[in-house]
Amino acid sequence: MSHQEELKIGLIGNGHLGHAFAKRLAETGFEADLSASEGRGKNADLAARSDLLVLGVRPLQLAEVVREIRGHLKGGVLAFTAATPQSALEESLDHAVVRAMTDIEFEQVLAQPDDRVHRLLTALSQNPLIEVTDEEVVDAHTIFVGCLPGVIAWQLLNNREGAVAWLQNYFLFVQTKLGIPDTVLQKILYQGLMDKNPATTVKRIATPGGITEALLQQLDQNADSTMEELYAAGWARTARVREAVAASLKRE
Ligand SMILES: NC(=O)c1ccc[n+]([C@@H]2O[C@H](COP(=O)([O-])OP(=O)(O)OC[C@H]3O[C@@H](n4cnc5c(N)ncnc54)[C@H](OP(=O)(O)O)[C@@H]3O)[C@@H](O)[C@H]2O)c1
Repeated sequence: MSHQEELKIGLIGNGHLGHAFAKRLAETGFEADLSASEGRGKNADLAARSDLLVLGVRPLQLAEVVREIRGHLKGGVLAFTAATPQSALEESLDHAVVRAMTDIEFEQVLAQPDDRVHRLLTALSQNPLIEVTDEEVVDAHTIFVGCLPGVIAWQLLNNREGAVAWLQNYFLFVQTKLGIPDTVLQKILYQGLMDKNPATTVKRIATPGGITEALLQQLDQNADSTMEELYAAGWARTARVREAVAASLKRE
């Protein structure tokens, strides 16, 4: 690709996901010119000069971002935000949005098909990109893969003896449901097993009101929860967050 064709990427959200995105982009050598948001109140200009705007804020921070960037968008919008109702976001932005999800290492990226982001996401994903037309699968990926580090930490804390066997069962369910390769799950498991302080991990990852918290609350209530029960708990919380996000976007 010539320098002229370099994709100008704007990144709003410079937290865990934003840092991981920038790191992974640099690792891949993908020819792109990445500019991160300079902070609140400074996103309109970024939207106006980006071929692709990547949203990596928390779901309930989206409304504030929308207020700033609406009417200034030049290119595509790629949202890595969890529990984000696509139609509500598109309506409030008056612009098309592609939803994507990943684990923090970009082992497995999953996204809605879109020609403008396909090359980028294929480069970022360490395993072949999974394209899904159904938005629900993006949310299911958050529940089962995004929340996995928290679930592993919980198992290590509360089910030390049986953790690995329990997780193998969990992996089988995720593979069947989402088609995530076993190698991806095993790699996340390996990272979890290296964790010297799972109690800190649980605290850090299970943010109040978030989806990981809902899975861990389900396990706290019943350590022998079936995979379906866990999934249902994840879905109930996802639906609540989606509703809250939609309401916040509607107020904009
Ligand atoms: N963490 C993961 O493993 C992971 C994986 C896949 C997807 N995601 C998704 O990525 C999103 C972010 O998660 P995270 O863990 O990275 O959260 P995080 O660490 O809290 O990062 C969010 C970042 O966005 C910034 N921000 C919020 N509003 C902004 C605005 N209007 N303008 C500019 N920056 C703004 C925040 O700044 P302040 O600190 O100043 O508020 C913070 O730096 C979530 O929707 C999550 O579902 C996360």
